[in-house]
Amino acid sequence: MTDIVTLNKPSHVKPHTSYPHLFSPLKVGSTTLPNRVIMGSMHTGLEELKGGFPRLAKFYAERAKGGVGLIVTGGIAPNRAGVTAWGGARMTRNRHAIAHQQITNAVHNEGGKIVMQILHSGRYAYTPFAVAPSAIKSPISKFKPRALSSRGVKRTIKDFVKSAKLAMAAGYDGVEVMGSEGYLINEFIASETNKRTDEWGGSFENRIRFPKEIVRQIRENTTPDFIVIYRLSMLDLVHGGSSWDEVEKLAKDIELAGANMINTGIGWHEARIPTIATMVPRGGFAFVTKRLMGKLGIPLITTNRFNDPENCERALADGCADMISMARPFLADPHLMRKSLEESPESINTCIGCNQACLDHVFEQKIASCLVNPRACEEDIWHDASIVKPLNGHKIAVVGGGPAGMSCASELATLGFEVDLFEKAKSLGGQFNVAKKIPGKGEFESTIRYFTNLLSSLNVGLHLGESVSEDQLIQSGYSHVVLASGVSPRKWTLSGADRPEVVNYLEVLNGDVEIGKTVAIVGAGGIGFDVADFLTHDSEASGFLKSWGIDESLSNRGGLSKPERSVSQRKVYLLQRSPGKPGSKLGKTTGWIHRVTLRKRGVEMWSDIDYKHLDEHGLHLSHPEKGSVTLPVDNVVICAGQMPFAPLLDTLENAGVKVTCIGGASNARGLDAQRAIREGLKLATKLESELVSE
Ligand SMILES: Cc1cc2nc3c(=O)[nH]c(=O)nc-3n(C[C@H](O)[C@H](O)[C@H](O)COP(=O)(O)O)c2cc1C
Ligand code: SF4
Repeated sequence: MTDIVTLNKPSHVKPHTSYPHLFSPLKVGSTTLPNRVIMGSMHTGLEELKGGFPRLAKFYAERAKGGVGLIVTGGIAPNRAGVTAWGGARMTRNRHAIAHQQITNAVHNEGGKIVMQILHSGRYAYTPFAVAPSAIKSPISKFKPRALSSRGVKRTIKDFVKSAKLAMAAGYDGVEVMGSEGYLINEFIASETNKRTDEWGGSFENRIRFPKEIVRQIRENTTPDFIVIYRLSMLDLVHGGSSWDEVEKLAKDIELAGANMINTGIGWHEARIPTIATMVPRGGFAFVTKRLMGKLGIPLITTNRFNDPENCERALADGCADMISMARPFLADPHLMRKSLEESPESINTCIGCNQACLDHVFEQKIASCLVNPRACEEDIWHDASIVKPLNGHKIAVVGGGPAGMSCASELATLGFEVDLFEKAKSLGGQFNVAKKIPGKGEFESTIRYFTNLLSSLNVGLHLGESVSEDQLIQSGYSHVVLASGVSPRKWTLSGADRPEVVNYLEVLNGDVEIGKTVAIVGAGGIGFDVADFLTHDSEASGFLKSWGIDESLSNRGGLSKPERSVSQRKVYLLQRSPGKPGSKLGKTTGWIHRVTLRKRGVEMWSDIDYKHLDEHGLHLSHPEKGSVTLPVDNVVICAGQMPFAPLLDTLENAGVKVTCIGGASNARGLDAQRAIREGLKLATKLESELVSE
């Protein structure tokens, strides 16, 4: 048997000079961290899952092995009222500390360091036991919180301290106190949510007593080498949020109270401004942390939408922070730091900021995963991607180089198959090549780059610009043929659908057609929204911060300014046949952003439409409230779904070739890259168990 080959270069390779700031050690208290990256807190859902802890241990251990300097766990509540949802994880008893030991041991065995985040949800708790400084319901909560009594406040502080002590007993290297994103601590600090008249409310000094006491008492009750990080809301992005002077004063007091580091928090959950979605420019909030640099004696961490070593290095070199926190990028690639150290950033599986498999899952009470890396939080299920198995004597053809095909081909090659990948276009990527043209979705290019590099490093036979024929596939003796040939846009059958002004979304996004000033988009699913965004992007000239009303000068409370709104020069109607709010099926954490964006640009979104016909006067339709309407449009863009495209299937099956369709070629409903990539991985694993054990 041939030896197993490891894709990873040995970990003792000499540090390079490309990222000198990123790889300079940092002393935090008595601990020296090997580099300037911290893995940001992510609650994965494994914390509550029966049997989830061994998986969580493996998840964190893999990231420690991948070279991250310090890991922060997902938020763990200090008491029952503090959980985010019913049954949420707590650190309140010895048995909890004992359960967590498997996590700390696993991380320490890989040479990593890990701190536990203590998060009290306050009024965001999705339970009837929610508490807050005052009984004021948040606009995104179902439950009105109960106001804590003065004794209750003191008890809650003690609960934070007890949690920290239990975390220390569990072997954690420290704790992060979650003071941002609009959770309990943040609610004490902001006057809008704290109307108390006792020593915990009223003046700013009184309102910040709660976090100061938590940090002071944790410091007093833990050993000097125990790291205490405080996540401070530097930009609340809500009315009545902190002023910059208050942020600075709090930071100084938190240092005095004994914190070793201050991490940045951006935006309350109820803020109606995107803070982590893909349209936020990479490192787009680093300017906020930078403002605090030089004011404190402890290291500062900046965060949000850092996803590659290049922009981390630049931010550190520009003095934006002492450390960078990356959270989702470690779901996408646990080995991102090792790859950076080894000067192979092109091999990083980059987080594209889509939220589709991570945050959206968590909000749907599912386990977090990652669209570009289905292994995330499932490290125990799949074959270790860094180990390439020896050739197993089977040859497989993959037809189609989109997400499903690229994922399947790379996994097959990792599992020891000889693989030929046929793609009729001249480059890989499939629908990702279309998606990357949507404003703010340029990150899709990173996924294409990642797979292109991976496939060539795995010696997959890449046949680009080649339309493979049935005969070729039949005669080449493949053990299996995988059809990942994607989709074709569904045709519109209305009277007038054959008129020249009717085009499909691919023609629009590929720039194959000239589009007029007045446009109707038929179909308000994900693609319809993307096309509307593409066609109205002219109104975003002012840039991300100005168009969303973020005060770059940080002179206004909460960091808010008046959004610069300009309506698009193009009049767009986004139409759907079904009743209900257009875009209701978009991602849980990003759908609202798309709706707000289009509304700001003057796009009209109509549902419950009965299309009649199209003629030289325009598109005739009937609307439940507007009645019969004729839209005098220059173009109609069809985004009414797609059909599986697998023209080779029947012939291959009839010739007795073993064949499987995956991705859009198997199910074209709601083009789903997450499903496509996962299906590629699943099929490869299945083929190994079927063919190699035969
Ligand atoms: C699935 C998921 C869970 C998260 N859970 C927490 C949490 O428990 N506590 C916290 O402070 N932040 C949490 N966050 C926010 C991250 O810490 C981070 O601020 C955010 O993802 C932006 O950073 P990034 O662009 O590096 O991902 C979570 C984010 C994700 C994606
Ligand atoms: S699902 Fe999307 S946002 Fe979340 S980690 Fe993966 S690539 Fe990043």
